[in-house]
Amino acid sequence: MTIHGFIFDLDGVITDTAEYHFRAWKKLAEENGWAFDRRENEKLRGVARRESLMLILGEHASEYSEAQIQEFMARKNTYYLQFIQEITPRDILPDAKELLAELRAAHFKIALGSASKNARQVLQSLGIENLFDAIADGNSVERQKPAPDLFLFAAKELHLAPNECVVVEDAEAGIEAAKAGGFLTIGLGPPERVGQADAIFPSLEGVHVADLLNALKQ
Ligand code: BG6
Ligand code: MG
Repeated sequence: MTIHGFIFDLDGVITDTAEYHFRAWKKLAEENGWAFDRRENEKLRGVARRESLMLILGEHASEYSEAQIQEFMARKNTYYLQFIQEITPRDILPDAKELLAELRAAHFKIALGSASKNARQVLQSLGIENLFDAIADGNSVERQKPAPDLFLFAAKELHLAPNECVVVEDAEAGIEAAKAGGFLTIGLGPPERVGQADAIFPSLEGVHVADLLNALKQ
């Protein structure tokens, strides 16, 4: 099948919001006396809000009512929204915007496939919303990564079949989701994390369209 589209994850691929998610969860954890550090935070990469909270609470999750869980998620998001007010176009990761522009110039369709409910706002703050033909975010589907639903939704919005699209992801859960949906995959980061992808790059820095296409041929 010929490749006609690319679906990009946001956090960790186009910008690095992981630090803001960490600070917001850390603030909530400190207020509640929960243990939470940067190592724990690594496990939350690509994981939706509710599942992230469940991972932080671990076996203690059952000690809280649904109302408390909802309040924790809302509070974390309030903190997160405060932190991401600082985001500007300077926060786009190196060469990500150039690659998006190159893909557009080469007539590939481009979608966002992010588990974040705040993805649109982040794209607006980065000033690159206009580079996407479709946006799939945390509000688009029920089942989050590692379920393939979000990427399937994105492909549908692009009017393409999964095997005509490449998913670019930095999270293990994201690669798993893309593979489950029948997409080609580019993993960004260390092999321990994205080793299941069809091709791996450390980041998008210095990466051109030809590099992506060549890497997927092997
Ligand atoms: C993903 C992040 O993109 O979005 C996760 O990698 C985050 O860390 C998830 O939990 C959900 O984000 P939000 O903005 O809906 O809480
Ligand atoms: Mg990510």
